[in-house]
Amino acid sequence: MKVSRLLFCTALAGLVSGGAMAQQAAPAPALPDTVSVRGDHPGAKYDRHLFGQFAEHLGTGIYGGIWVGPNSKIPNVRGYRTDVLDALKAIKVPVVRWPGGCFADEYHWREGIGPRNKRPVKVNTNWGGVTEDNAVGTHEFMDYSELLGAEAYVSGNVGSAPPREMAEWVEYMTSPTGSTLAKERAANGRKTPWKLAMFGIGNELWGCGGNMTPEYAADETRRYSTFIKVPEGVQIMKVASGANSEDYNWTEVMMQKAASAFSGIGVHYYTVPGTWEQKGAATGFDEEAWARTLVKTMKMEELLQNHSRIMDKYDPKKRVALLVDEWGTWYDQEPGSHPGFLYQQNSLRDAVVASLNLDIFARHADRVRGANIAQMVNVLQAMLLTDGNRMVKTPTYWVFDLYKGYQDGTVLPVEVSSHWYRNGGHELRAVSSSAVRGTDGVVHVALTNVDPNQAANVSVQLAGISGGTVSGRILTGTTMDAHNTFDAPDTIRPVAFTGATLANGTLSVALPAKSVVMLDIR
Ligand code: AHR
Repeated sequence: MKVSRLLFCTALAGLVSGGAMAQQAAPAPALPDTVSVRGDHPGAKYDRHLFGQFAEHLGTGIYGGIWVGPNSKIPNVRGYRTDVLDALKAIKVPVVRWPGGCFADEYHWREGIGPRNKRPVKVNTNWGGVTEDNAVGTHEFMDYSELLGAEAYVSGNVGSAPPREMAEWVEYMTSPTGSTLAKERAANGRKTPWKLAMFGIGNELWGCGGNMTPEYAADETRRYSTFIKVPEGVQIMKVASGANSEDYNWTEVMMQKAASAFSGIGVHYYTVPGTWEQKGAATGFDEEAWARTLVKTMKMEELLQNHSRIMDKYDPKKRVALLVDEWGTWYDQEPGSHPGFLYQQNSLRDAVVASLNLDIFARHADRVRGANIAQMVNVLQAMLLTDGNRMVKTPTYWVFDLYKGYQDGTVLPVEVSSHWYRNGGHELRAVSSSAVRGTDGVVHVALTNVDPNQAANVSVQLAGISGGTVSGRILTGTTMDAHNTFDAPDTIRPVAFTGATLANGTLSVALPAKSVVMLDIR
């Protein structure tokens, strides 16, 4: 059964009266777009690690973002702010990467253990030249991961520390009682070892991690990896520092020379609407910038295809995971914010960037088994923004919330036939989609309409999916740069979506302009 225009408008009226946002009933194209969901051809697992986060010692990402200290007036649990902790728990953060980023290759873990008032104060040379008092160190980060119910992905220092330093850090975190390092850990308050799920062998070794050639980095990776040892029976994923965007030679050389030394390799790709010198504003942009940003983010598809193809040559059985361990939008910093803090607003455009990327990950889930959006709080494409004791959830946070049913589910391949959205010489398919059968059997179908002006009529054919009811949520806004502020924190948040009907194995969806919809079929 088709959704009638009347029904669509009624649904919109209901949503608007819900008060969270307004959807405009823009005209839909005459021909429906089609999506076919192949429930009869289940694909790879949508690894929960694809929803990973990144928390670097950068700006107010850690200090003020997740950590305020136990004596703060801001409500906290042992120093970790409660509002942020609760919000992150609600989206089931599976893994957090720490302490960098560029910070990692200048980080010396011994400076971040022991009594806080005795820890050395350093200059954060990468990010704003501010002082770093090391209040958050290994114990604080590992405890935070446990509180959050997330795994720890710790990045080691290859660029400016010897292998011994890395080896001892891993031993400090993972060894059971007995060794001197384990005793030191216990004396610092933690008797049992932590679970260290992932360990990064440096970060961006081609740049801030040491400006290495791929050949040299491959040798260093082999060398450092040799000394990362964990106790018998403990599993750890060793992650090689990956390529910058389309530096395919990096992946080629690392895989050819050093693949046996790691079980994951990264790739970093940021969506920068303009140039690195003039990236573009986070809000107040025009439609041409909207279209340009979305086209640029779609480059992720080509990158994952090409890096995966290279990896297939050396690792046809896909033992090594490709991890997009830094991704997201990078705009000009907010006017008036501290230089080097990378603080930016987050709008509906970021929400669409997030959903497009999460859909892309589904198409490469056999090889791409982890990702860390940059960054979790107050930095780049953040989940949350804080200001003193206030916090807002960003549109990107809400996309992660919409998609959380994907975690560890099974990808159901989708074929999308969509009209083009075009503006200012940029073009991309108007409709993006992915589908996953959740671990609880619910089938989740994501639909994004990138066109900021025109709704889309989407017909979704479900093959091998027996559910008989559909429910959903939608994230949209009145403007392309709709965003939440500390004074208006709920301008944009998901609300119930009633623009979909299910009959005879076909979903008919009236997909509003500039929207992200998640449908659940039971
Ligand atoms: O996320 C900000 C920075 O971007 C990271 O520190 C670095 O790895 C990358 O260049």
